[in-house]
Amino acid sequence: MKANVIKSFGGFDTFEYQEIEKPSPKPGYVLVKVLATGVNLLDHYIREGTIVPELSFPHILGADAAGEVAELGEGVNGFNVGERVIVVPGFPGNKEDLDVRPTVTAPSFGLPGLHISGTYTQYMEVPAYAIVKDETGLTAEESATLPVALSTAVHAVKGIGEVKAGDKVLIHSGASGSGAIQIQVAKALGAQVATTVRSDEKAKFAKSIGADLVINTNNDDFVTKVQEWTDGAGADVVIDNLAGDILPKSIEAVKATGVVVAFGFAAGPEVKFDIRSIFFAQKNLKGSMASDIEDLTWGLEQVKAGKIKPVLDKAFPLSQAGKVHELISKGKVVGRHVLLPWAV
Ligand SMILES: NC(=O)c1ccc[n+]([C@@H]2O[C@H](COP(=O)([O-])OP(=O)(O)OC[C@H]3O[C@@H](n4cnc5c(N)ncnc54)[C@H](OP(=O)(O)O)[C@@H]3O)[C@@H](O)[C@H]2O)c1
Repeated sequence: MKANVIKSFGGFDTFEYQEIEKPSPKPGYVLVKVLATGVNLLDHYIREGTIVPELSFPHILGADAAGEVAELGEGVNGFNVGERVIVVPGFPGNKEDLDVRPTVTAPSFGLPGLHISGTYTQYMEVPAYAIVKDETGLTAEESATLPVALSTAVHAVKGIGEVKAGDKVLIHSGASGSGAIQIQVAKALGAQVATTVRSDEKAKFAKSIGADLVINTNNDDFVTKVQEWTDGAGADVVIDNLAGDILPKSIEAVKATGVVVAFGFAAGPEVKFDIRSIFFAQKNLKGSMASDIEDLTWGLEQVKAGKIKPVLDKAFPLSQAGKVHELISKGKVVGRHVLLPWAV
């Protein structure tokens, strides 16, 4: 079978598209034929070597897999060969840790493409408890845009941010893979959403997926705009995918006692802020990382109900992983690009 592997950390040309041995599923495992895999900014960071200092090479990146059941290991019930499935984008390696919540705190927790072998491959072997049936009716390309973005959006917006109907929520980079889904999760919960973008094209897109207020930060200051939008109160919740020099302003934009959810660091991992901006008005800064299987299941139900739509930008053959990493590293994506392991 074909996979696109990396044998060291490095640039966009580090990938080697090659033949590797096809796994055979162990008892309790399922062999998934990967029909499409989403490309996350995290994959690019891991490839560069900025997330972990060491990996066991050769390594397969990727956490988003939509596919079908190719083979069942001994003792696996409840799935049929040929059935469409989605791989849970993060799960415990040991069955004993299955009930640990949040799942990310389980001692044996692993993210495909980081701690364990990932999705840039034609087949992957996963425990049967780490797949869910794909009953969305979407194409595999569309489904592959969802696992990470959808489940982590549900975790951050519904779980950690506790967004509810009537809330006014600020979500950064509304045309990004994560932001575009976070907007739709917040809308599905009945909230009003403001979002930031940096181009008119992305502003148009963010409006089209339901953002109530779109702020182009090339033209306007988002703190001022959010203050106006909330009659001076500030947002109930801010989902901050950016960190860097943006997060201190997210703290400014949230209301007294409100919540800023630290979700990502697309604008840089180091943040400097005055601690008084948090404790005088009793604001909350909370981290959100990965998701639980319940987040994915809830999210997929919203997709099935038509409340959340996948945002597929373009599909490329798996061999072009390096090119796609370069595109996403430069922000040249609206929603998600996907790789197709069976396209030539
Ligand atoms: N906590 C979790 O569980 C979790 C899960 C998934 C992702 N993440 C993190 O969330 C972040 C976004 O991931 P993603 O996959 O959604 O990325 P993505 O689709 O590649 O989007 C990143 C966006 O960030 C914006 N951006 C980049 N640099 C910026 C800057 N200096 N100032 C303002 N905006 C900037 C750009 O949007 P515009 O051009 O529109 O401004 C870009 O499109 C990453 O740090 C990722 O690691 C966290």
